[in-house]
Amino acid sequence: MKKKKFTFIDLFAGIGGFHLAFHNVGAKCVFACEWDEPARKTYRHNFEKISPNVFKGGNFVGDINSIKDVNKEIPDFDILTAGFPCQPFSQAGRKKGFEDTRGTLFFNIAEILKVKQPEAFFLENVRGLLKHDDGKTFEKIKSTLEGELEYSFKHFIVKASDYGLPQLRPRLFMIGFKDKSIDFKQPETVPLKLTMSDVWKGKCTRDIGFTLRVGGARSGIHDRRNWDGYLVDGEVKLLSPEEGRQMQGFPDNFEFPVSKAEAMKQLGNSVAVSAIQAFAGNIVEALKLSHAKLPLEKRLHSDIQPKERVKGVSQGNKRPVLAPQLS
Ligand SMILES: C[S@@+](CC[C@H](N)C(=O)[O-])C[C@H]1O[C@@H](n2cnc3c(N)ncnc32)[C@H](O)[C@@H]1O
Repeated sequence: MKKKKFTFIDLFAGIGGFHLAFHNVGAKCVFACEWDEPARKTYRHNFEKISPNVFKGGNFVGDINSIKDVNKEIPDFDILTAGFPCQPFSQAGRKKGFEDTRGTLFFNIAEILKVKQPEAFFLENVRGLLKHDDGKTFEKIKSTLEGELEYSFKHFIVKASDYGLPQLRPRLFMIGFKDKSIDFKQPETVPLKLTMSDVWKGKCTRDIGFTLRVGGARSGIHDRRNWDGYLVDGEVKLLSPEEGRQMQGFPDNFEFPVSKAEAMKQLGNSVAVSAIQAFAGNIVEALKLSHAKLPLEKRLHSDIQPKERVKGVSQGNKRPVLAPQLS
């Protein structure tokens, strides 16, 4: 029997923070979607070698709205991942549920879940989504996923610095499973592995850096809006992609074949890879455990090896966070 490799799709892929994290916990990407040309360039440059199948046969699409037939155009997969832009839902049709989200990017996610029925999803967004439109946006997302699409639903506010990275970056993680008996737990947090002094290779006044942004006007280092200026060895230094890459947990061999300004924007848009990877590891472990609990007749058809089932029996919330790598 062959060991089961869980598969995932990477929606609104950016530069592939989810791709890297799930690849590192042994899952395989089968489809990605991103419409921004410079981000596509960085994505292809870094992932073509490790996931060649994605770039062949139309599995790296641009605009998600160009997908007309979800069933035919997206291969089957186990886990849906997406960091999606936050948009309000219509005021008019609040009671209509899923249909009410039409015209938003969340609708595309919900439709893919409805058609493909994968085993799990992992969605990421800004923390502000919880309060967006007086909490109605979050409620609609939760009720669509739980009520209409029949997934379990848990959410977590996670900081990059909770998983070893020198950056605040509080983000909302939403995770759900078809198998509602899965009791998903947040992975144990880990101490800082890197400080801003390590990143700058000099004495920095902060251990944990500010949340990277997509852009925005530069402000003085003492201004409360400052996000890219640091005092290092008594001098003001401004972030470049090299520091941003480390703050987001991308490995040394991750390359940006685009301008510095584009690379900074891409990093500001991306996810903190180590945090995503810690949760990705627990998702994969939870799915292994769920497969291991299948009734005997189904288990005979399962492609998970018995040894693997035993390994998956912990809740997996004490897994060490591996350093993200690209190999
Ligand atoms: C918050 S970022 C996600 C970043 C990603 N998780 C990463 O690790 O880099 C959202 C991405 O969605 C993309 N996007 C927005 N609308 C889109 C659409 N209609 N089709 C495809 N991609 C879209 C944006 O270009 C942006 O890169």
